[in-house]
Amino acid sequence: MVQNMIPAPTLSYFVAILVTIILPISVHGLEQSPVPSTVSGQAPGDAQIKTFQVENCRTCHQNPGMRPAYVGSDGIVHDLYIDQKRFEMSTHYIMAGKYYCVDCHETGYDVFPHKEQKPLGCFNNCHEKLKEKFLGIKASFQQSVHYDAKQVEFACNTCHPVHYARKSRRMTLEEKKGMCTKCHEDRHNLTGISLLEQHQWHPKAQLHLKSTACIACHTQPDQWEDSFTFKHRVLPKKEASRLCDDCHSPDGKLADYLIDIGENPLQLSNAQLADNFYVSGATRIFWLDSLGLVLLLAITIGVFAHGLIRVGATVLRKKQ
Ligand code: HEC
Ligand code: HEC
Ligand code: HEC
Ligand code: HEC
Ligand code: HEC
Ligand code: HEC
Repeated sequence: MVQNMIPAPTLSYFVAILVTIILPISVHGLEQSPVPSTVSGQAPGDAQIKTFQVENCRTCHQNPGMRPAYVGSDGIVHDLYIDQKRFEMSTHYIMAGKYYCVDCHETGYDVFPHKEQKPLGCFNNCHEKLKEKFLGIKASFQQSVHYDAKQVEFACNTCHPVHYARKSRRMTLEEKKGMCTKCHEDRHNLTGISLLEQHQWHPKAQLHLKSTACIACHTQPDQWEDSFTFKHRVLPKKEASRLCDDCHSPDGKLADYLIDIGENPLQLSNAQLADNFYVSGATRIFWLDSLGLVLLLAITIGVFAHGLIRVGATVLRKKQ
């Protein structure tokens, strides 16, 4: 992810530039917005505060020339740029019908500088129905290495970017890995060496980093929990899967992670998915297994028969 990181002090310069340059331009109709923004509310003593039509969030937050981000007091990188294409592919847009920024950010954003806001969170009017489920996830998360991380204060949207949230089955493998690599590739790489080097213990590190989601090794299934719940319990590194058998065996854990292997842009069922992967040891093909058994049997019989003939021949030779 390429971002211009701006420390908090620089933010005010950025803001000043935006307000003085961009807003006047958009007033002159250069923006594609159907309704030109109105810069009004400039009471003589209050020249700094601008109000605008709420449709105009894009002037600043979707300006292709700018990808501003800042590091908050929670230690997390906050993106101020919202990618409209990804936004339109999110569950919130498609399923919840939140088409406009102000559908969620209801008040206080029609002026700049914005009015101080309480965080929206997930439960204010929205995910009440899912509360039980989310609390289960939270309980799992609280047992993860991240819960008491000192560098970062985690929230659900630390990993799940609200504006691009998608169901697990809809997420591409890159999106899934991105939830982890956005921190572990650089900012919170505690070792200073690349992820590939950190995984050199694995003879096929590159292949596995490429084609399996990080959680497939860094979490362990729990039969009492929903699949997405235990996937939030990221364990200390010594409890990550290191043994090949964990996955490359018929009763290994891969069955719990089918949607986390390879690309799955289609919403396939687990059975359909299983047909799409061949993982040696884990995937069983009946005729291949049978063929192997038949060959083994034939060899055993062959060796046995050969032995019998030799014994017989020796006995015959001795008799002569
Ligand atoms: C003039 C440029 C500009 C416009 C127009 C604008 N914003 Fe912002 N917005 C910013 C900047 C800069 C920040 C960074 C934090 C700050 O300085 O308040 C920000 C921060 C935010 C935040 C994060 C708030 C926080 O406290 O961290 C939200 C949410 C937001 N804007 C929503 C909106 C919405 C919704 C609209 C449209 C109704 C909008 N903005 C229009 C420039 C703008
Ligand atoms: C589904 C509701 C929803 C919609 C729609 C939405 N946002 Fe947000 N946005 C949130 C939530 C939740 C947060 C996290 C902070 C919070 O809890 O207040 C957030 C955070 C932000 C932030 C701060 C970045 C950060 O990481 O903290 C900005 C900037 C922002 N939104 C701008 C926008 C803009 C611009 C749009 C329209 C293109 C938009 N939002 C649409 C819910 C929404
Ligand atoms: C450390 C990163 C991280 C944090 C923090 C996190 N999640 Fe997740 N979440 C994930 C990953 C990775 C998946 C994908 C699991 C999979 O592939 O099945 C996921 C999946 C989910 C799903 C399943 C979606 C589906 O369609 O099946 C839900 C719901 C969810 N998370 C909610 C939450 C809630 C609520 C919180 C806060 C309590 C939270 N997450 C915090 C990483 C995180
Ligand atoms: C917001 C940044 C961030 C995100 C996102 C994140 N991590 Fe972490 N992770 C950290 C920090 C910071 C620590 C150090 C915690 C501590 O203080 O022990 C950590 C610790 C870890 C450790 C423990 C290493 C050890 O020494 O035992 C593992 C493993 C790990 N993360 C894997 C993941 C996986 C897998 C994901 C994606 C599901 C993920 N992380 C997402 C920041 C992040
Ligand atoms: C094949 C299983 C496997 C996969 C896939 C995997 N890891 Fe690991 N990872 C491990 C094991 C095992 C360790 C412990 C290595 C050690 O003890 O040196 C580890 C170590 C780590 C550490 C700790 C490094 C350190 O020394 O502090 C982090 C962070 C981490 N992995 C993140 C990730 C991320 C992010 C991904 C996805 C891009 C990922 N892992 C994919 C098995 C895996
Ligand atoms: C998290 C589960 C997991 C673990 C642990 C794991 N693998 Fe794999 N491995 C996979 C998956 C999934 C593939 C298939 C990748 C693909 O083809 O896209 C794979 C593919 C391979 C392949 C390529 C041939 C094939 O079967 O497709 C080799 C070789 C391999 N793994 C060796 C190992 C070795 C050696 C270890 C132990 C050090 C190991 N793996 C541990 C999941 C795992």
